[in-house]
Formats: sequence, structure tokens, C-alpha cells
Amino acid sequence: MKNMTATIAQLALLILCISASELAGEEAFDVRNHLSTVTRYGAVTESAGNSLLASNSLEGCKPIHLNLLARHGTRSPTKKRIKELNNLSARIKVLLQGACATAKTPGWFWGWESPWKGNLKGGELISKGEEELYSLGIRVRERFSDLFDEEYHSDVYSIRATQVPRAAASAVAFGMGLFSWRGSLGPGRNGAFAISTESRASDLQLRFYDSCDNYKDFRKSQEPAVDELKKPILKEITLGLSKRYGLNFTRQDIASLWFLCKQEASLLNVTDQACGLFNPSEVVLLEWADDMEVFILKGYGKSLNYRMGTPLLEDVFQAMELAIKAREEGHPSGSYEKARLRFAHAETIVPFSCLLGLFLDKSEFERIQKELPLQLPPRPPQGRNWKASRVAPFAGNYMMVLHSCPIDTSSKYYVQVLHNEHPIEMPGCGYAEFCPFEVFKERIVQPHLKHNFNTVCNVKPRAEFPKSMSKLSLQSSALLSHE
Ligand SMILES: *[C@@H]1O[C@H](CO)[C@@H](O)[C@H](O)[C@H]1NC(C)=O
Ligand SMILES: *[C@@H]1O[C@H](CO)[C@@H](O)[C@H](O)[C@H]1NC(C)=O
Ligand SMILES: *[C@@H]1O[C@H](CO)[C@@H](O)[C@H](O)[C@H]1NC(C)=O
Repeated sequence: MKNMTATIAQLALLILCISASELAGEEAFDVRNHLSTVTRYGAVTESAGNSLLASNSLEGCKPIHLNLLARHGTRSPTKKRIKELNNLSARIKVLLQGACATAKTPGWFWGWESPWKGNLKGGELISKGEEELYSLGIRVRERFSDLFDEEYHSDVYSIRATQVPRAAASAVAFGMGLFSWRGSLGPGRNGAFAISTESRASDLQLRFYDSCDNYKDFRKSQEPAVDELKKPILKEITLGLSKRYGLNFTRQDIASLWFLCKQEASLLNVTDQACGLFNPSEVVLLEWADDMEVFILKGYGKSLNYRMGTPLLEDVFQAMELAIKAREEGHPSGSYEKARLRFAHAETIVPFSCLLGLFLDKSEFERIQKELPLQLPPRPPQGRNWKASRVAPFAGNYMMVLHSCPIDTSSKYYVQVLHNEHPIEMPGCGYAEFCPFEVFKERIVQPHLKHNFNTVCNVKPRAEFPKSMSKLSLQSSALLSHE
């Protein structure tokens, strides 16, 4: 009891500290926290405050299994985007030709070339990204020291990555952190570890979106609607910037400059060039537009977006069941899995968030449960729960921790979900941080399992797409007329 009062006091203190730092954060606007899925891991974890890392624990319970799902770390722009930036460089030259140099012209425009100009491939994990995963591996080992005290065996610690090099490299960086000082290789005493990968064409757990025909069709059908949604925002900001800098920007110029801002800020830690062109209210509008896109194409915009991810949820759940079975049957340590560690993409993490029912307010969660469509998150300055910078920054991750508890507790096993290393309340479990395993199974996992991947993805839904498209277009035109 005494313990509990102490914990409550600590919690209260914690909450105080958080709201104080949040207030401070609001005063100092930092563009690096508003970059949607281009946000670096450090930007979100630092602003959330490290104190949260010390999570509560259940009296007498201890972790017996860890399911990790992580996005790859910070990466360089893809080939197509590198081309876009090369195009931007040419566009800036054209813009400057027409203009006489005035005090308004941004100085860095003169002679600007894309920093990625010579990069012919793109998309690779950069060293900042390696560090994100490497240090995450070290923190995971420290936090779950009981789980990682075992001799390495690939059946005890299963590491899986998609066939995309930046995800596989992320798995390697993580494993180097997790297993350093335990092997015999080199001065860091590294040990070798195995990473398994499914073929790109049939990776239903980590790249389900690549094997889901209905999703591919849906995505294609929605892209024009997303462009329509972004148009008025880009138009408004294009006008603002053209006036401010005395240059005739096009909407494409502004879209490319915003893309450049995100890359400069996250990859190069430069915020006074492209990002410097936008004022804070323009930044939050552009962030909102990006978040809408993620919402519509990868998130709650359509149930298909996350239902196709049920094979992954099933795999997470199955790993827990096996861990419980091993414990119940008293298998010797070393003969069963203690951690299943997965490295994938934003396209994996975002739907997984939705399967867990996170980042919604209470009424939205209730609508989702009744399979009713959601409104788009509201335009700033109204707040929203759905922020891609939080949901899926580079190296963004979920850890599903299975706890085993003494017999006198109401449940023998509990599931705790950590999001970006912070405990998160599960709406599906009555907003509990520790969810009794049976409740997790019945209320969070099983409702999804009734949707079969093949049915969801490959049976053609009759006339469903046009209907949902018109719904979205309606919403976007409602937004248009709102302005
Ligand atoms: C770059 O510019 C060329 C020529 O204007 C255009 O065809 C191409 O689509 C642009 N590429 C990108 C990625 O913007
Ligand atoms: C921008 O375009 C307008 C109209 O098309 C033109 O009058 C103006 O001179 C242009 N300004 C610059 C700086 O090119
Ligand atoms: C980024 O730059 C700021 C100064 O603008 C500096 O304080 C900070 O330490 C840098 N962060 C990283 C990760 O390099």
C-alpha cells in the first residue's frame, strides 16, 4: 500500500513535469516535431520527456515475452524524390531569372543544388538511422534484462525484416545493440545473429499491403481525392510565399520546398533554409495535409487499410500464446521463444496502430467498433490525436510485452503495449495500461480475426470503391467550402 502511494505520488509528479514541458514546447515552435512520417525518432521521444521511460510495473509480475514491431530508421530520399529535388533546383534557377534580386529573395536560392544530387539510388538507411536502431537495441536489452539473459539462439530470439534493404539494415543495427558485448567478434565483442526475411511477393505479415489487390485498387482510386484535399492548402500557402519572397511559385514548387524542408530538418538538421520559408501556421497546415494523406491511405480512412494487417496481429498473438504454453508446461529455459523482433515500414506500423484502436478519441473509437466511418481529423488550429509524427516517425515502434503474474492476481497474464517506448492505454481494454491476456484476446485480437486476409484483399467488393470515394470527395468539398 505504501508502495502504491509512492507510485501515485511519482505519477502525479510525472504528469506535472510532462504538462510543464509540453507548455514550454508550445512556446518554442520546432519544425522538427511537425514532419509527419519524416520525423526523426529523437524529435518525438525527446519532446515526450525521458522520465516516461520508467514505466510502472505490476506487483510481482515479470515480462516473459516481447513482441517488437519497428519501422526502419531515418533514410535518404527515394530515387523519385531525389529527381523531384533536382527538378526543384532547376525551377529555382528559372524563378530567379525572372526576378530582380531583392532583399526579399532567400539568399540560399542562389546556386542551390540538391544535397542528394549525386545519389543515384536513394532510400538507404543513413548513419543517423543506424544509430536510432542501435541505441534502441541497447535500451531494450537494459529494460528487459531478464528476457535477454539467455544464450543467443535464433529460436529464442527471432529477428525478422522485410526484404527491403533499409529494413534489413535496421534489424542488423538493432541486433548489434542488443547483442553487443556478448559475442567474441572484434573490440565490441559482437555476436552474429540471424535475420529471416520473406520474399517481397508473399510477406503477408510485414508487407501485407503489397499482396492485397483490393488495397492497391483502393489506394489508386483515392489518390486524386487526396490531391484535391491538399490543393486548397497548397494554393493558400503558394500565394503567401509568392508575396513574401516576390517570386512566382507554383503549387508544385511549394510541395517540393516542403518536401525539401522535411528532408533538411530530419536528415541534415538544417531548419533555416527550406523550413525557414514557412511560418509556423503554414507548417502546421502542411503537416495536417500530410497527416490526412496517411489517415486516408494507410490509417482509419478505410477499414481495408488495417484489416489487411490481421496476419501480423495474428502472428503477434500466436507468439504470446506459445510463450504462455511454454510456461504452463514448464519447458526449460532456452527451449522456447522469448522475443520476436520485426523490422518493417510506416505502411506496416500505421495499420497496426489502427488494429489496436489507438490515436482516436473515445467517440471515434466507438464508431470504429461499430464499423462506422470516421470524419477526417479536423483542420488546425483544432487539435487532433492523429499525428503521423507520433504514430510512425523513423524507427517508430511498438512493443507488446507479455507479463506473467503470481497466482493471486486476477489474471495470470497481462499484455502491456509500449509505443515509442512509452506505455499506452488501450481503448479496447477499457483504457488500461495492463490488459488481462483474455481481454486482449477477446476484445482486441479476435474481432479482427473474423476477417480473413484473402476475403478482405482478393474478393472484389461490388461497387464499393466508387461509393467510398464519393464519401471522401464529399468530405473534402465540405472542407473546401469551409474556407
Ligand atoms: C522532373 O521534371 C521532368 C521534366 O519537367 C518531369 O517530366 C518529371 O516528371 C519531374 N520528375 C519529378 C519526380 O518531379
Ligand atoms: C509573376 O507573374 C505575374 C503575372 O503572371 C507577373 O505580372 C509578374 O511580373 C511575375 N513576377 C515575377 C517576379 O516574375
Ligand atoms: C541540431 O542543431 C541544433 C542547433 O540548431 C543543435 O542544438 C542540435 O544539437 C542538433 N541536433 C543534432 C541531432 O545534431
